[in-house]
Amino acid sequence: MITPFEMAVSSVRVGVGDERCDMKIVVVGGSGILGSKLVATLSAYGHEVVAASRRSGVDAVTGEGLTEALRGAAVVVDVSNSPSFQDAAVMKFFETSTHNLLTHGAAAGVGHHVALSVVGSGRFLKNAYFRAKLAQEKLIKESSIPYSIIQPTQFFEFVANIADAATHGNVVRVSPALIQPIAADDVASAVASIAGGPPLNGTVEVAGPESFHLDALIRRSLSARNDPREVVTDPHALYFGAELSERTLVAGDDARLGAILFEEWLRRSIAETPQTNPQRVENAGAPIQPAAFKEHEFRIIEVPPGSALLVGDVVVFNVGGRFCATQNTCTHRQGPLSEGTLDGSTVTCPYHDAQFDVCTGAVLRGPAREPLETFRVLVDGEVGRTAPALQSHQQETRI
Ligand SMILES: NC(=O)c1ccc[n+]([C@@H]2O[C@H](COP(=O)([O-])OP(=O)(O)OC[C@H]3O[C@@H](n4cnc5c(N)ncnc54)[C@H](OP(=O)(O)O)[C@@H]3O)[C@@H](O)[C@H]2O)c1
Ligand code: FES
Repeated sequence: MITPFEMAVSSVRVGVGDERCDMKIVVVGGSGILGSKLVATLSAYGHEVVAASRRSGVDAVTGEGLTEALRGAAVVVDVSNSPSFQDAAVMKFFETSTHNLLTHGAAAGVGHHVALSVVGSGRFLKNAYFRAKLAQEKLIKESSIPYSIIQPTQFFEFVANIADAATHGNVVRVSPALIQPIAADDVASAVASIAGGPPLNGTVEVAGPESFHLDALIRRSLSARNDPREVVTDPHALYFGAELSERTLVAGDDARLGAILFEEWLRRSIAETPQTNPQRVENAGAPIQPAAFKEHEFRIIEVPPGSALLVGDVVVFNVGGRFCATQNTCTHRQGPLSEGTLDGSTVTCPYHDAQFDVCTGAVLRGPAREPLETFRVLVDGEVGRTAPALQSHQQETRI
């Protein structure tokens, strides 16, 4: 079946209409979830594509590497994202990076600035992230560069982050509001089509083919992965710090719709998840079980050397017989470290490969910049217990 997006992209490939296939296109955030798919799609259609992000020496916030990356570019596609969702940090990220990209873009003679915002940016202003995306859109509209603003709904790939952000202990508390998620592959096709065509000088919404109640979507997503967390429906539950109305996350009638169904994507994504990885932070690929005892307690037998156990919000690692514990969520974009890989005392985040020392919390490799919070692990016979750290240094307990 050919989707509307695929039809549009096919015309980029054969050079039909206004779309071209021979431009230099700089994808800022080209290493991200969407960016990496977009770089592959645009390259496949014959464009000269530059994937620009901090790991390739281009920092849109400090401006480092921008002049060189943008030289000779016809199009800039901004799919970068803030490493932090904290109120002030996220606003600073999108205002500063957008200002820098527009200033350097104008100096380089860029003829089309394409940026990703989010559906509902103008109507969910209680949420700091959406406020920052609105500020980004305003800067783009006020600039001299012709532009296209694309507002997608939440990616299927982001549903796990929503669950993690709403998790306390073993409970995921979420609203039953509607959500219309979309596969990042479908978004990449839409963005590639728009980037290859003339500037819209306007905004277009891009959304998934189906709407779901958020609580039901999270329940389905967790159960498909045998995740034991309990999903509790709460109309007042916060979505990244603010309450949702019923249609906050749903696109309007004119949105371009993707074709990939959530169930189809979920099946594929589970099938692609490696089943046996000896260094995975789980016991032989088995799902991580919640602690069997009190809230902060666990059986030490459940955490053999080289493995980890999720105990409430804390993940306990057994580093060659020594227990270390950290917060479970990565300080970059809340990746679940309990699903990462452990090598010695180094855990690698499953989302974007940041590395941390699990005993000190220190960042060993970006994109994360902030260290992890660490916890003490106290052992009494067969039972372990996590507790807040006494000092800045991790307390060690040998077994
Ligand atoms: N995910 C969703 O559900 C969703 C929904 C709606 C809209 N969107 C929008 O879609 C876009 C892409 O989202 P995503 O989820 O694909 O993001 P992502 O996976 O978090 O990727 C973010 C990208 O930004 C780069 N980056 C971070 N700081 C940078 C800096 N200072 N300079 C240059 N690059 C930097 C990162 O690479 P380095 O770490 O190497 O710098 C990475 O390539 C964002 O604008 C987001 O608002 C996302
Ligand atoms: S969430 Fe991005 S590296 Fe962990």
